[in-house]
Amino acid sequence: MTDSIAVKIKDLKKTFSNGWGKRSTIIKNLNLDIMENEIFGYLGANGAGKTTTFKLMLGLIIPDKGNIFFGGKPASDYKNRSFLGYLPETPYFYSYLTAGEALDFYASLFDMKKSLKKLRVEEMLRLVGLDHVKDLQLRKFSRGMLQRIGIAQAMINDPKLLILDEPMSGLDPMGRKDMRDIILKCRDQGKTIIFSSHIISDVELICDRASILSKGKLQQVIEMDDRQDNKNSTWEIICRGKVFDRSTIKKYGNIKHRATGNRHILSTVDKIAANLIMEEIKNQDLDLVSFGSRRKSIEDIYIKSVGVEGKKNG
Ligand SMILES: Nc1ncnc2c1ncn2[C@@H]1O[C@H](COP(=O)(O)OP(=O)(O)O)[C@@H](O)[C@H]1O
Ligand SMILES: [Mg+2]
Repeated sequence: MTDSIAVKIKDLKKTFSNGWGKRSTIIKNLNLDIMENEIFGYLGANGAGKTTTFKLMLGLIIPDKGNIFFGGKPASDYKNRSFLGYLPETPYFYSYLTAGEALDFYASLFDMKKSLKKLRVEEMLRLVGLDHVKDLQLRKFSRGMLQRIGIAQAMINDPKLLILDEPMSGLDPMGRKDMRDIILKCRDQGKTIIFSSHIISDVELICDRASILSKGKLQQVIEMDDRQDNKNSTWEIICRGKVFDRSTIKKYGNIKHRATGNRHILSTVDKIAANLIMEEIKNQDLDLVSFGSRRKSIEDIYIKSVGVEGKKNG
């Protein structure tokens, strides 16, 4: 459905001069659709081209080739991009402003009435859990608190689309969890969120979909719910019984069987074979203990896609 695509990136290419008269291609023919109201994880090793993609989306830099569409309209049709919220990779804050003053400043950048501005500042401080330190100067803030101010700043104009560049970077496990919770709250408010990361678990925990970028090329788009159906995921069936007669399933070469006592563990990557095993358990009157699939982790997919390069840089 075209009308539910929030962002469409089509045949995008970006080159940069390397300073020696040569240009290197940083984004190579990128095609990507971001759906409305989804959390999209943009994964890639350092230097893959994530920040460059975001800057292209924001209109901060211009592509050599290709187009970006927001809600079906070319990006060039928009005179301003106030429907966008952006958290830069290394945000800079005026450290002598208090949290309240800083957000008031960011709100002033938009055409907002004074009363609405006040309301939005309060609302954003509550959203990111900083209402109790409204009057504290930012220089007294921890890294995690500053990142939260960054999100509040990105959300101040009630944007439809949030672009967050490495929002969890430099945060401890609790800080990462808080940030994930804030991102989930933003989705609950109907926002579309795209965020970059090179930390797989952050993406795995909250994203609806994720893509893997490697050297400016999109390797794969992963639907989180579909990972069980991926041809590389493994079905594991455990049953109990004296013997498991394998004569019927023998012709399926891709079934592994091991037994510990009267416990039989069967695994296969083939859905049909998994169903056949279930049938055999019934026919042989064995006790089914469990049936499940080992979700293929994004890590497996990431390592496979990005390969040695990702391990070296990431
Ligand atoms: N303005 C620029 N001029 C030249 N090279 C750049 C510029 N911006 C980024 N690059 C290069 O583009 C590549 C991708 O950078 P970036 O998009 O920041 O990657 P990521 O955000 O995935 O770590 C890097 O090799 C970087 O050196
Ligand atoms: Mg970056």
